[in-house]
Amino acid sequence: MKQEIKPASGKLGILIVGVGGAVSTTMITGTLAACKGTAKPIGSITQMATMKMENGEEKLIKDVVPLTNLNDIIFGGWDIFPDNAYDAAVYAEVLKAKDLNAVKDELEKIKPMPAAFDHNWAKRLNGTHVKSTNNRWEMVEQLRQDIRDFKAANNCERIAVLWAASTEVYIPISEEHMTLEALEKAMKENKEDIISPSMCYAYASIAEGAPFVMGAPNLCIDIPAMWEFSKKMNVPIAGKDFKSGQTLMKTVLAPMFKTRMLGVSGWFSTNILGNRDGAVLDDPDNFKTKEVSKLSVIENIFEPEKFPDLYGDVYHKVRINYYPPRKDNKEAWDNIDIFGWMGYPMEIKVNFLCRDSILAAPIALDLILFSDLASRAGMCGIQTWLSFFSKSPIHEFNEEPIHDLFTQWRLVKQTLRNMLGQESPSYLD
Ligand SMILES: NC(=O)c1ccc[n+]([C@@H]2O[C@H](COP(=O)([O-])OP(=O)(O)OC[C@H]3O[C@@H](n4cnc5c(N)ncnc54)[C@H](O)[C@@H]3O)[C@@H](O)[C@H]2O)c1
Repeated sequence: MKQEIKPASGKLGILIVGVGGAVSTTMITGTLAACKGTAKPIGSITQMATMKMENGEEKLIKDVVPLTNLNDIIFGGWDIFPDNAYDAAVYAEVLKAKDLNAVKDELEKIKPMPAAFDHNWAKRLNGTHVKSTNNRWEMVEQLRQDIRDFKAANNCERIAVLWAASTEVYIPISEEHMTLEALEKAMKENKEDIISPSMCYAYASIAEGAPFVMGAPNLCIDIPAMWEFSKKMNVPIAGKDFKSGQTLMKTVLAPMFKTRMLGVSGWFSTNILGNRDGAVLDDPDNFKTKEVSKLSVIENIFEPEKFPDLYGDVYHKVRINYYPPRKDNKEAWDNIDIFGWMGYPMEIKVNFLCRDSILAAPIALDLILFSDLASRAGMCGIQTWLSFFSKSPIHEFNEEPIHDLFTQWRLVKQTLRNMLGQESPSYLD
């Protein structure tokens, strides 16, 4: 049955936590350039992908589902540095001057609001443009006010919030995260080592009825208290950790090995990265958050309990190395030890010379536009269908995450068809 979807009328305010970061400024610049027609939104599913309708016709997704038009977006956000989006993009050194200058006026107008920040959650960062708060609950209150003020000042009909800020230190889930009541109590009691700044942003966003997307591997919305809150407030949440490069490759190669019933004995992944993200991840506590996110993928796809002869003993190692000369141009290496007929070993080497923010920018945009769509379609809680975009898809305890990229892609299209009340086409799509 066709879902009732409210039209994408008026302006959508996209508030980005870490609006001065490499991913954020690259995403914003590319979106503005697409609006002006000076660059194409390559890599964006919402802008370029097609899907088959039940009558076999192939359509651009954006032509059949009511997504917000790029021209109707107003960007804003928070950062611990006061630089406007143009200066921040120059600092990030991802895009060329000619691309930045083409939208310089628009970028200069995007000035970050002071951030909700706690140095203990990102020890390699020292920002000055931060809120002064007495406790976590006050942090939430100030962020809620920011959202309301931005919405009113920019005449936005809707707001969506994206975390594209630095990765926070790793913390395990604790009892304060288990229910909404316990979470709110911990915020009010200012349990600073249990309630991260990102949880305050997420809480504020959900409280204001704005979908929240987590682009980093932070625990943040990956806790029962946030699932409960998002359902209570009828707000979609999605994440976590953009699936941009090395893990994207993993979730394509691993299903291939499994489909061909080839065994795997080891998978060693390493990379060098020299941007600010790399500097933050150079701290072992922050790296641990990323490591857990990156490690979860393979076991889920291989199902070693079902195929012990093939995947019962896979040695999986992930390394990230901060190497400033490379800046945003990450180089990633994967060595995969596989085995075939009669157990004979073979090796595969993948050397991906990528650009981190170029890969992540369209993912960030798509996650936000689809979350806004979900919100208008009355969907709430974890948006499993958006797992396609995440390294570490959030899921409730009684559910398994989906990592295989092609299964995830089918889920995206199936969900969009369901929204439109369309049956699946009876042939391969
Ligand atoms: N680029 C990719 O391919 C990719 C893939 C997966 C995940 N990510 C994640 O996306 C995030 C952004 O990556 P990036 O390369 O743009 O990093 P970045 O360091 O360039 O940007 C992060 C920004 O967040 C700001 N910030 C930090 N803490 C903040 C807070 N509490 N409130 C507001 N602002 C805050 C920083 O000042 C910085 O401007 C990182 O967490 C990264 O791990 C990136």
